[in-house]
Amino acid sequence: MKKRSDGIYFLTERYAPIEDFLPIDTSRPIELDLGCGDGDFAAQLAARYPERTILAADLLLGRIRKVRNKSEQRNLPNLKPLRAESRLLISRMIPDGMLDRVHLLCPDPWPKDRHSFRRLNSSDIMMHFARILKPGGVFHFSSDDAPYFEFTVRNLEGSGLFAPADKAAIADIADLKSDFERQWIEAGRTVVHTAWRKL
Ligand SMILES: C[S@@+](CC[C@H](N)C(=O)[O-])C[C@H]1O[C@@H](n2cnc3c(N)ncnc32)[C@H](O)[C@@H]1O
Repeated sequence: MKKRSDGIYFLTERYAPIEDFLPIDTSRPIELDLGCGDGDFAAQLAARYPERTILAADLLLGRIRKVRNKSEQRNLPNLKPLRAESRLLISRMIPDGMLDRVHLLCPDPWPKDRHSFRRLNSSDIMMHFARILKPGGVFHFSSDDAPYFEFTVRNLEGSGLFAPADKAAIADIADLKSDFERQWIEAGRTVVHTAWRKL
């Protein structure tokens, strides 16, 4: 939001397809790690599947710099660091049906009632996840927070746009852990994963 000299407040972000600034070969599989943090999961995924493009997005520039460093140091040209706000990215920048898989791993659960409006997985956002996925594309979510996990599953079911996916949908990456998942496991907490297929 910017304030112009004539006193009008206006939203500067307009629809700007990601391909306007980042050339993406859409003939290759494309996956998105949304709120990727320091990007360890995305880097492992990119290393495992060099033929896939892995978009790794986070709001914090410092974290995205770490993703960029991983991409350079591990020679992963298919790992694309994006500094972007999640809602804007999925609602305004990613074209319909571009992605094979979206990973939303251990997002902030905002457990307090007064903060719950900040949760990403509100019912309306499911429409965008469905929009940006290919038919049959997979939405992969994990959390250590049981109420947030249940809230997300409720919204996925309620959307009518997804069905529970079979284990094969994320079996190829079951051994990969994000930075936060590792931290929670070390702290003795349990991280639960779920995968949903776009109808
Ligand atoms: C709890 S961390 C999880 C990071 C990573 N997915 C993992 O599992 O290690 C949540 C991440 O989401 C990012 N984030 C929070 N709100 C965001 C938003 N609105 N847009 C983009 N990233 C956001 C934070 O900067 C942080 O890196």
